[in-house]
Amino acid sequence: MSTTNYIGKPTSRVDGPAKVTGTATYAAEYSVANMAYGYVVSSPIAKGKITKIHAEEVLALPGVVQVFSHENVPSLAWFDRSYKDDVAPGGSPFRALHDADIKFSQQPVALIVAETFELARYAASVLRVEYQQEDHETSLETQRAKGYEPGAGKTGFQPPPAPRGNPDKAWEEAPHRMEAEYVHGAQHHNPMELFSTTVEWRGEGKITAYDKTQGVMNVQQYLTKIFGLKKDDCRVVNEYMGGGFGSGLRPQYSAYLAVLAALELKRSVRLTLTREQMFSFGHRPHTLQYLKLAANADGTLAALQHHALHETSQFEDYTENVVNWSGMLYQCENVKLGYQIAKLDMYTPLDMRAPGAASGSIGLEIAMDEMAYAAGLDPLEFRLRNYAERDQNVDKPFSSKKLRECYHQGAAKFGWDKRTQAPGSMRNADGKLVGWGVGGGVWDATQQKAAAKASITADGKLTVSSATGENGTGTYTIMSQIAAETLGLPIEAVTFKLGDTDLPESPLQGGSWTAASVGSAVQSTCEALAEKIFKLARKMDDSPLRDAKFEDVEFASGQLRLRADHSQAVVLRDVLQASGEAKLEADSSVMPNMVKQNGYSLHSHNVVFAEVTVDEDLGTVHVTRVVNAIAAGRILNLKTARSQVLGSVVWGLGMALMEETVMDHKFGRYMNHNFAEYHVPVNADIHDIDVLFVEEEDDIVNPLGVKGIGEVGMLGVAAAVANAVFHATGKRVRDLPVMIDKLL
Ligand code: MOS
Repeated sequence: MSTTNYIGKPTSRVDGPAKVTGTATYAAEYSVANMAYGYVVSSPIAKGKITKIHAEEVLALPGVVQVFSHENVPSLAWFDRSYKDDVAPGGSPFRALHDADIKFSQQPVALIVAETFELARYAASVLRVEYQQEDHETSLETQRAKGYEPGAGKTGFQPPPAPRGNPDKAWEEAPHRMEAEYVHGAQHHNPMELFSTTVEWRGEGKITAYDKTQGVMNVQQYLTKIFGLKKDDCRVVNEYMGGGFGSGLRPQYSAYLAVLAALELKRSVRLTLTREQMFSFGHRPHTLQYLKLAANADGTLAALQHHALHETSQFEDYTENVVNWSGMLYQCENVKLGYQIAKLDMYTPLDMRAPGAASGSIGLEIAMDEMAYAAGLDPLEFRLRNYAERDQNVDKPFSSKKLRECYHQGAAKFGWDKRTQAPGSMRNADGKLVGWGVGGGVWDATQQKAAAKASITADGKLTVSSATGENGTGTYTIMSQIAAETLGLPIEAVTFKLGDTDLPESPLQGGSWTAASVGSAVQSTCEALAEKIFKLARKMDDSPLRDAKFEDVEFASGQLRLRADHSQAVVLRDVLQASGEAKLEADSSVMPNMVKQNGYSLHSHNVVFAEVTVDEDLGTVHVTRVVNAIAAGRILNLKTARSQVLGSVVWGLGMALMEETVMDHKFGRYMNHNFAEYHVPVNADIHDIDVLFVEEEDDIVNPLGVKGIGEVGMLGVAAAVANAVFHATGKRVRDLPVMIDKLL
């Protein structure tokens, strides 16, 4: 429609200046008058009951305002039984301070509110709480036999597809076979920004909650149900976020506790959790995966089985799609997929970037490497021989799939053809072992219903808004690009607003669906506004567009002009001024086009090539090069998209080599709940990372042709590194992270 061409260009973040100059305001930074401060007291035991809380001892401290616990929580809280949030799994969500029961270590048992943060923290440190301890079970290994198949619960959970062919027989008869178990430890989200909620008391039971969340609408819905508030009386705001990765998908107990205190005390309250406490509300589950693959003499897959088991809490059935991808990433006629969860005395796991697929691609992609070696094939060649042209899980063609181009372009960029197959056969100039590994994955391209509003003023400034979120992914920027592109305006003339329940309803930011969902709403809204402007332009005195149809015109360079003759133009500002309107508005709500999508499987794909060097004497692994090639439809912004994928790769390296939350089963407690002992990659761990996008033309997914890139970049990274370690050393590590002790 226009020629400004913002879409697809590497545009710098429009919110960048606000972030680097400190004017971007985060949840814990809103200044509110007469604020009290909260601090959470967490349970040291994993299971049992609270028998006594000596609240009076800390209430005696001058400046301590209140101690909230199950003993004095207002009876109306949790009254409405429909307090499930948008992404709640099956079961009954945890209710903080609801009763004396302890269900997991670090469970919040009390909230101290004081005049200063320091005093609240001090009071929390001396509050005596007595418990009656019960035996807990926190080991997935010992609960293997108690695994069960979850029912559908959480939105988006698909039970594994029915088996096809005869995988057991095919495995028995095939010339090449492998079977193995793969394990990875639990991981915790560690965004830079801590979880915090600043609740502004607006009087008469009205509040504004500045909350760290990926979904303001979700938090508003949750809070209004729990406390019986009207939506207008409970505004939720999140304009900036220092990382989410899934930790902000569900409303966290910090939001509930801060609002509880504000409503009870009729005063503004801020509550911030500690880094330690952020290990108490959800994690990527510790997962056991069993894979059994067979290959024919020609290198085609004869059989594939993938079974996974991971933990959940006693009160909710957390589910993620771990194994389903294995039925569609490669062509195979004999497939059986199984998925179970087992209850433990811990908090419910929580979606973490590419939930399920990040885990599942560890099992599948290391198993594919093992299978390739067993069949005597190069691991990339093995993947090419088993390329899936159709999604066999649903027996539909892909709306678009350029994974083959990713394989070729990624391999060329990496120099894969110089790889020698034998483990331990490559060394660098320093004499260190060199290994090259490959891995990859597939992720859903989904679109949710979303709404937006656009408003243009007589000075030519456009404001577009939607209640979506921005985790730091580039949402402000891509939405501004779409709006600028559609109305032919310079991006500087566009302001995009988000993260406020007063704005048009949109889904939470997750699932890599924001670009497709909110982007489509922004595009459609700006098109609706364009039509309104066009109608006014036709009515102007001596309008050169008087006889034009909407299809005949385009918006470019702040003008509205005939496509066939650019000299026949009117200036946008003049249209508005001539109309006498101070501003012109449009809004729309967009749903995915189910009719168009019905016959297709909608997915994004990637492949990752990794190089490691291994010091034989010390067992240290360095990831020296990574190429990540991604097919995810149209890329709206090469700069922010690349940045997203760089983050995915860094995290994938962490998953492969260092990240693991370790449970001490004696205490039923995660022991390394801090940055000193929960290791994530630092700059010194990161070397060359190359990101390639193989663009796909796809008008089936949505008119913008975008599939989203928040999660797909993470897939296969950990497996590629583990496979590279095998190639370097000949040691097959099936228990991630690959740490020194596993290589010596
Ligand atoms: Mo993502 S795990 O849907 O934030």
